[in-house]
Amino acid sequence: MIVKRKGPLKGTMTVPGDKSISHRAIMLGALSEGITEVENFLMGKDCISTISCFRQMGVSIDIDSVGNKVHIKGKGLYGLQSPNTPLDVGNSGTTIRLLSGILCGQPFKSTITGDSSIRTRPMGRILTPLKQMGADIASENNNFCAPLLINSLNTASSPMESKDLTNRLKGIHYHSPVASAQVKSCLLLAGLYADSETTVTEPALSRNHTELMLSEFGATVTAAGNTSSVLPGPKLTGRRINVPGDISSAAYFIVAALIVPNSELLIKNVGINPTRDGIIKVCRMMGADIKLENVKNKGGETSADILVRHSNLKGVEISGPIVPTLIDEIPIIAVLSCFATGKTTIKDAEELKVKESNRIEIVVKNLSAMGADITATDDGMIINGGKPLHGAVVDSKMDHRIAMAFTIAALAAEGETQILNPECVNISYPNFFTSL
Ligand code: S3P
Repeated sequence: MIVKRKGPLKGTMTVPGDKSISHRAIMLGALSEGITEVENFLMGKDCISTISCFRQMGVSIDIDSVGNKVHIKGKGLYGLQSPNTPLDVGNSGTTIRLLSGILCGQPFKSTITGDSSIRTRPMGRILTPLKQMGADIASENNNFCAPLLINSLNTASSPMESKDLTNRLKGIHYHSPVASAQVKSCLLLAGLYADSETTVTEPALSRNHTELMLSEFGATVTAAGNTSSVLPGPKLTGRRINVPGDISSAAYFIVAALIVPNSELLIKNVGINPTRDGIIKVCRMMGADIKLENVKNKGGETSADILVRHSNLKGVEISGPIVPTLIDEIPIIAVLSCFATGKTTIKDAEELKVKESNRIEIVVKNLSAMGADITATDDGMIINGGKPLHGAVVDSKMDHRIAMAFTIAALAAEGETQILNPECVNISYPNFFTSL
């Protein structure tokens, strides 16, 4: 893919549905009684992997990909069927970690695995607390990575009864060493199958979509500060979910409008949940002209139309509790920082090393190739902005967020940029290049 500088970006657009919320809608819909209808579902590869896994466990899920709608016939908490073959999550970290929590509560054995990237990502972070809950879960190759083997706690052949508190997981209070919504959500979902309350305390608050959606489906959830708890069962009830646009996808267009002179974009219906809106806060700290219009709340999730105009920006420090609220946006924030005057320092972001790729290494390598003044640190990076970028050959390493961030960098760089492996955008934003 060759990308060249072009004129201003102008117009009104939407971005696809939120990836995190789309995954959770399938999972909770499958575990509910009755029908769940999902509108504005993200038809990206990761969310389709979640659908395939639940279909393998006997859940009927119809997809209308033109209308981005999904119709799920819920099986209830105790109605999933034993899969005949290993569950394959593809590239999706959210699927493997959240689904593992659910599988640990089931009365059947299962194996869960994914692509070569997933099989190198750390699973010790869920294995440790799940074992504390009494789950029988192990890494097949004893390397704290997938494939994960899960054994049933329940020897009975018939599905567990919600009233039956024998052979269940144990409710625990887990103090997670990492701020990770995937870890927290894994444990809260396992907590539906526990004998008492399950609580997770994080060092900083990560995205709270699981807590919000569980409570919409009828679970008893409490959340205060960095601590979230769920009570076991007794049942979830299917419902209609309207997924807001994904702020992580909108981020590429927000940054494009900010760095390409004379741009003005209105991005409609974007989720602005405060555990996800760090990108907007950082852009405003840098001096960006961003307005939120038409703010709405549906099913606990807030959305807005984002109006963004090209702006003169200054460097900032990004560290502490804001980091989990923009963790997936750091590659595009690094690009943005190259167009800001002065120094931007990103700290407390060591989690970037264990995403779909090592995002500290790849962002620094690719931006350096484009002429940026950028240095990697142990927990982030330092960018001295204001040095013009030029075209280069940059590899996405099959990481969707890297492919999109560098396409946007190329829009504001001198000359031509070649993006290697651009097709991975289909993980979270299949129409990215068409929208652009
Ligand atoms: C996600 C949580 C984040 C994020 C990922 C999606 C989720 O991961 O990076 O893209 O849907 O829960 P961590 O919670 O592990 O940081």
